[in-house]
Amino acid sequence: MIYAGNFKTNHTRSSTIDYIKELNFGLKDKKAEDKVYIFPPLTAIDFYRGNFTIGVQNAYPIESGAVTGEVGIEQLEEFNIKTILIGHSERRELLNETQEFVSKKFNFFKERGFEIIYCIGEPLEVRERGEKAVIEYLKEQFIGIDIDYSNFMVAYEPIWAIGTGRSATVEEITTTHNELKKLINRPILYGGSVKKANIAEISSIDSVDGVLVGGASLNSDSFLELVLH
Ligand code: 13P
Repeated sequence: MIYAGNFKTNHTRSSTIDYIKELNFGLKDKKAEDKVYIFPPLTAIDFYRGNFTIGVQNAYPIESGAVTGEVGIEQLEEFNIKTILIGHSERRELLNETQEFVSKKFNFFKERGFEIIYCIGEPLEVRERGEKAVIEYLKEQFIGIDIDYSNFMVAYEPIWAIGTGRSATVEEITTTHNELKKLINRPILYGGSVKKANIAEISSIDSVDGVLVGGASLNSDSFLELVLH
């Protein structure tokens, strides 16, 4: 299983350092085959040693240059960052990232060999129209994406399940992941209100290769409870 923690706009450099210390202590009991990723805010990016991978939640598709407020390859290389989240619904919605821009970003980081966790997910009104509508919607989020790229994973995160406490049901996750597996031969993570109470049932679904966790990853103890469940 893959366990990825997305801090979003939480934690500081100093609290991330403490978190990593606690995480490292707990990860001594991790199963060898499990993989852990942490996505801190950009200001807390640094060299951290441990049995996990540090990635960034975002970067601009540029080596370096004039893009006020963004970071590019030059800033990531300083810390040897080679893993990135692309397509998160919060960026698509709050920052108006279009499919065209998201796919441009995907291709830019693909060409530089980055490991990409590519996020997709439908809004509630689409889920309410049924599974067929969901898959049609999700397919559009692969426009311009090279699904044959060997260094990427998909994170299926239904928007209505993010930060709401209401995870998708086992049946919804199973059906959607199975449909996605017919289209894409890559690991698929589930994200959306993953927590201690549902990690056992979610991780036991065959087509779930891992989880992308927001809220329950913010505290090292609660994230470790998921990783070591
Ligand atoms: P929550 O776990 O807080 O629902 O967030 C999920 C998410 O968006 C991870 O990227």
